Parts: sequence; structure tokens; C-alpha cells
Amino acid sequence: MNLVFSFPGHEKLAANIAKKMGYNLGDVIVRNFPDGESYVKINSDVSNQNIILVCNLNNSNSKAMALMFFSSLVRELGAKSLGLIAPYLGYMRQDKRFQEGEAITSNIFAKFLSSQVDWLITIDPHLHRHKSMKEIYTIPCQVLHAIDIITLWIKEHIQSPVLIGPDQESEQWVKGIAQKTNAPYIILKKFRKDDSNVEESIPHIEEFKNHTPILVDDIISTARTMIETVKVLQNAKMKSPVCIGIHAVFVHGAYQDLLKTHVELVATCNTIPHISNKIDITPLLVEALSKSEYS
Ligand code: R5P
Repeated sequence: MNLVFSFPGHEKLAANIAKKMGYNLGDVIVRNFPDGESYVKINSDVSNQNIILVCNLNNSNSKAMALMFFSSLVRELGAKSLGLIAPYLGYMRQDKRFQEGEAITSNIFAKFLSSQVDWLITIDPHLHRHKSMKEIYTIPCQVLHAIDIITLWIKEHIQSPVLIGPDQESEQWVKGIAQKTNAPYIILKKFRKDDSNVEESIPHIEEFKNHTPILVDDIISTARTMIETVKVLQNAKMKSPVCIGIHAVFVHGAYQDLLKTHVELVATCNTIPHISNKIDITPLLVEALSKSEYS
């Protein structure tokens, strides 16, 4: 039997998955002690069960400890297996030693997670310099893509879109969505000066003045990439854009900063619970689970 648990934040997603897949829902308490240390208590019988944990891994520093405790605990209590659904997988962006002496945290985190769970399902992880999860993960990993559900959302909500990618890395999503929506697309050139400063430049865009610009990126974190892209579009006198992000990481008031640029709308997938979530990933996960050997 499969038993689905959720770490704080993804209760609704876990409940939807359990309902659609006919799994039971597990009960776990995860919280921090006043000194910041993690507390984990499982209130369900996990013996001989296949456990599925739904936990997005943004802000993963404290979650990683709780996950380690959860993993140890379910095994101690006799669970058969433990799989992780991490709709957003953290620690994927430091995938190279940019400067001498830096830790390549994508690799180290992958090694850690591979030692904690038996399989992993995630959505559009930031695979850039790593071409596949196999390069760094030693457990079976299933990578799902949000392209189709984003395409559907655009078709239902936006007329006459022009897809805009803020940088070369975004082309994989932007091009795919543009093809599926029969819309034109443009990829900008991005120059990142440091963690919170980026510069954008745009090729000629005049012919798309009557279109609604749809910015698409995998992650919106400081939102600098989106904000600089919005500014470039505004300077080019384009219509107010719709900003779509797969993962709403949004640090330090970044969401408010983005709204202040007077964008038409910010729409994200619910891989990370956030007020901007408008595109539901449940069908994607349910379809993947239905086809997988873990179901
Ligand atoms: C870059 O590698 C990613 O695809 C995103 O463009 C980036 O993570 C966005 O970050 P920020 O919101 O901090 O500009």
C-alpha cells in the first residue's frame, strides 16, 4: 500500500495526489524547536508501506535536516520504501566551481538526497551544465516538464501572445511553448553582474507591438531577471507583459518588486506554494505516478 505524507506547505497537493491515486494520507508533524532544531513525529503506521513524501526543496537548508530525520524514522518504523516528490528541487544552480575553492553544491546535495530516498520525481529542475539527473543522482529520478500545462494556461488566458525568454537557458521552455501555441518567440541576452544584478538586451521587437508579451522562466528568485526584461519591453513600448515562472522562489520582497513594475499578471506553477500560483501541477504528477512502477 502507498502512504503519502506532506511536509508543511504541500498538504493540499499531497491530499489531491492521494485522492486521485487512491493512496492513504499519512500524518506527520514537522516543526522547529525554539532553537531552530528540527522536530519530526510520524502519527501513522508506516510498517510495510511504500511511503511517498511530498516536499518542495526551496529554502532547503532546514528541510534537508527534517527530511533526513523523516527518512531514518520511516525506515526504523518498518517502511518498505521511501520516494520523494520534490516539485521544486533546490541546490541545482551552483552546478560548477565558478571560483576556485567553491563547493559544487548541486553534486553534494544530490549525493545527500540519493542516500536518503529510493526514488525522486521532480519538475523542471535547473539542468543547465548538468545535462541529466543521472550525472549527479544515483537513485532513479523522473523529471517532469511543465511546458504542456503552461501552454494550456496560455491558450486559455492570453490572446495573441509573443513568448519572451530572458536568457539562453529559458529557450528550452520558451521555444517549446511557442511551437505548441503557434506564437512567435524572442530570446534576450542576459548578463548577470552578481547575485542580484542583471542586464538585459533585446533584438528588434517592433513587429510584435500588438502582441501580449509573455515572459517565461524556470525560476523567479530575486526577480531581477524578470524585472530587467520588463524594463526592456517597456522601453520598447510593448504592452504590459505577463510573467510566467515555473518555480516561485521569490526571495526578500522580490514578488512586490516585480509587481511594482506594473506587469499585467504574474502566474506561477504551484511547485512552490505562493500567492502567484495559477497553474496547477497536480495532473502532471498524477499522470507520472499512474505510469510509474511506484504506483
Ligand atoms: C537562471 O539560470 C534561471 O533560469 C533564472 O533565470 C534565474 O534563476 C532567475 O533568477 P533571479 O530571479 O534571481 O533573477
